[in-house]
Amino acid sequence: MCGIVGYTGPRVATEVILSSLKKLEYRGYDSAGVAIVGEELQLHKDKGEIAVMESTLPSFEGGVGIGHTRWATCGRPSKPNAHPFTDCQGRLALVHNGIIENYAEIRRELLAEGHRFTSETDTEVLVHLVERNFEGDLRQALVKSLAVVKGTYAVVLVEKGARHIVAARKENPLVVGLGVGENFLASDVTALLDYTNKVLYIMDDEVVEMTPEKVTIYDPSGRPVQRRPEVISWSAEEAQKGGFEHFMLKEIFEQPEAIRNTLRSNLEILENGGLLGNAEASSVKIVACGTSYHAAMIGKYVIEKVAKVPVAVELASEYRYGTGAKEHPLVVLISQSGETADTLAAAREARRRGCRTLAITNVVGSTLTREVEEVFYTRAGPEIGVAATKTFITQLVGLYLIAMRLAQARKAMSVDELRTMRAQMQQLPQVVRKVLDGSSKVEEAADMLADARDVFFLGRNLNFPTMLEGALKLKEISYIHAEGYAAGELKHGPLALLDSRTPTVAACPKDHTYDKMLANVAEVQARESPVLAIGFEGDRDLAQVASRVILVPEVPPMFSPFPITVVLQLLSYYAAKRRGCSIDKPKNLAKSVTVE
Ligand code: G6P
Repeated sequence: MCGIVGYTGPRVATEVILSSLKKLEYRGYDSAGVAIVGEELQLHKDKGEIAVMESTLPSFEGGVGIGHTRWATCGRPSKPNAHPFTDCQGRLALVHNGIIENYAEIRRELLAEGHRFTSETDTEVLVHLVERNFEGDLRQALVKSLAVVKGTYAVVLVEKGARHIVAARKENPLVVGLGVGENFLASDVTALLDYTNKVLYIMDDEVVEMTPEKVTIYDPSGRPVQRRPEVISWSAEEAQKGGFEHFMLKEIFEQPEAIRNTLRSNLEILENGGLLGNAEASSVKIVACGTSYHAAMIGKYVIEKVAKVPVAVELASEYRYGTGAKEHPLVVLISQSGETADTLAAAREARRRGCRTLAITNVVGSTLTREVEEVFYTRAGPEIGVAATKTFITQLVGLYLIAMRLAQARKAMSVDELRTMRAQMQQLPQVVRKVLDGSSKVEEAADMLADARDVFFLGRNLNFPTMLEGALKLKEISYIHAEGYAAGELKHGPLALLDSRTPTVAACPKDHTYDKMLANVAEVQARESPVLAIGFEGDRDLAQVASRVILVPEVPPMFSPFPITVVLQLLSYYAAKRRGCSIDKPKNLAKSVTVE
């Protein structure tokens, strides 16, 4: 996720900006840059770590400036794509965090008017828009420019020869730090704590203007807003976690936004045929490792149902041993990091076999993106906890959208059906939010698992892989042995292991598997294994058969993995917390596995 900082005051701005940017490194980034206001604007940026950019940084003079760490979303990680950006005349410099959805259209217009662009980013249109609208008042120019922009932003601007900084926010964080005779601005308070603990949080659609002496916040109608500063008592480490105890919990709670961003930046691309042109693949293979493999398994059910195309799923580490006989024409490779060695090897092998390749990844410019023909980017933002959470849920969003794209190309769904599915997808952030609102109930329920040595996770149909993922999450972070099973397989082995010390978690949404799941729950309870059942709101029958029930908002059956996954993530988290485990860095595990 990009990091933004700004400073205006008596200190050497570069020093404040560099030290503040370093505090935001935890957010993940691939390039960095600064712009310092002097008689001329002084600009410096580079790909890679802040230290790389710093090693060649000239000694810029000036007490006003902005800085940025970029996590690439639109345009590769590269020096030209790094922020800040300047206008054609070098009068303005701008940094941005977010997505400008209609940038292509705006860029065309501005190019026709003679503006010159130097990057592939969506952000660069903003600085040229402000240049076009600038008639001496920077704030007015920014407001006018944002009126034509669709998307999300935290955007910050400086102007040659001026001491003020102007910024605006929509769905991306922005906080002002108040000093004495100086003021600061950043994406989060972590960057400010060395200088001040008095902050003003900027809200959606607000604009802020600050000089060393004064900070004024304006509401959307341009009226000044009175806001009392908040005093932050967090340590820097607590601040990085946004007040959450662990990154994993923070990332679980970021899922509504991650889903929204993934939908926002991909729906139109897919609907306009921008991916998988002539997508007439007669069959599909999905290849991945770990959590991404479970997303692949859910994807199989969805693509087969929606697009009526047969789908095979294979572990990346096993793909190489296949003979390639009757190969699937389209191979989808899923990897949140884009760096997993086995998945990279599988991508090369798929191409060697002459297959069309598509990657689903969360990291722009990762190695996998260079090994395949087409890329679908999830927009989860960087994930710091080793256990994949928001990247998994956005991979699901990707697979559902790809299923829609294939259905559209193959005419497997009518226009109305596609429209309905689109609307259902857009409800998902709210659905996930509601599950998160009930997290305290899941925390209580996690007591059922925390002292167990073994736990079973049962589900049917597309919730069989959901439960495989639930079991993986639990073993990764709590070190409890957990196994996911297709509930129908219960009698073929696991039943022998059940007793009162072995709890079972069962996915019981009201769909065509419901009656059979209920029977399975009864079978398990009969072996004295306590069952924690996850069902839809309004279900009164579950409580009759299960020891404990967690209810989630009812969704069309195809979408049930979303709310159920969130419950499973929270269950693992709270069970691991009760056991005092190192949740963000489980023993023996790595975020990105770059050896085969
Ligand atoms: C590691 C991580 C898992 C992840 C797997 C695949 O094992 O700990 O969380 O699911 O790699 O990673 P990828 O980046 O390819 O999705």
